[in-house]
Amino acid sequence: MSAAAVMRAAPEPDVEPAAFKAAMRRLAAGVTVVTSRHGATVNGMTATAVCSVSAEPPLVLVALNRSSASHGVVSRGGAFALNFLSETQSELATYFAGRDGKSFDAVPHRLGATGCPLIEGCAARLDCVLESRHDEGTHTIFVGRVLHAETGDGAPLIYGDSAFHGLTTI
Ligand SMILES: Cc1cc2nc3c(=O)[nH]c(=O)nc-3n(C[C@H](O)[C@H](O)[C@H](O)COP(=O)(O)O)c2cc1C
Repeated sequence: MSAAAVMRAAPEPDVEPAAFKAAMRRLAAGVTVVTSRHGATVNGMTATAVCSVSAEPPLVLVALNRSSASHGVVSRGGAFALNFLSETQSELATYFAGRDGKSFDAVPHRLGATGCPLIEGCAARLDCVLESRHDEGTHTIFVGRVLHAETGDGAPLIYGDSAFHGLTTI
């Protein structure tokens, strides 16, 4: 059967937004602060929709809501950095999930080659230039080419079932 025939035979969707969100809350994920810069504008936002795409070349993706301020800064600045939070940094996750008045003044960091903030104390950091973008639904998938990667000492911070967790080895 051709792919087109399979597509035509697909059943009608049967999913309420609430059911979809409840299911996705069961997917535990590492917590990242996505930082971005355009001129004097610097921003950071908490994200879990972050994924490795390719090792050679090194590519990653992040899905950002088009209503977020970061979406505009990444689009205009053409770069982003991924700061994988450590389990001691849940306060930063909450801070950067806020909308207004976010500042890096009290957040220890340095600037990467792209000008995006690299936050101290993270489990790992990636500095990326924008490779491509794909609009899907309410979000844009930004694919970044990694210019620099480094790891820290902390264990990763995890988000699942609407709460932050440390990583427990089983
Ligand atoms: C744990 C957690 C994960 C999140 N993941 C994402 C994500 O992957 N993509 C996204 O667009 N927003 C995500 N958000 C929401 C943004 O952090 C939030 O909308 C933020 O206010 C955006 O900031 P900005 O408008 O300054 O860019 C997440 C929030 C939390 C608490």
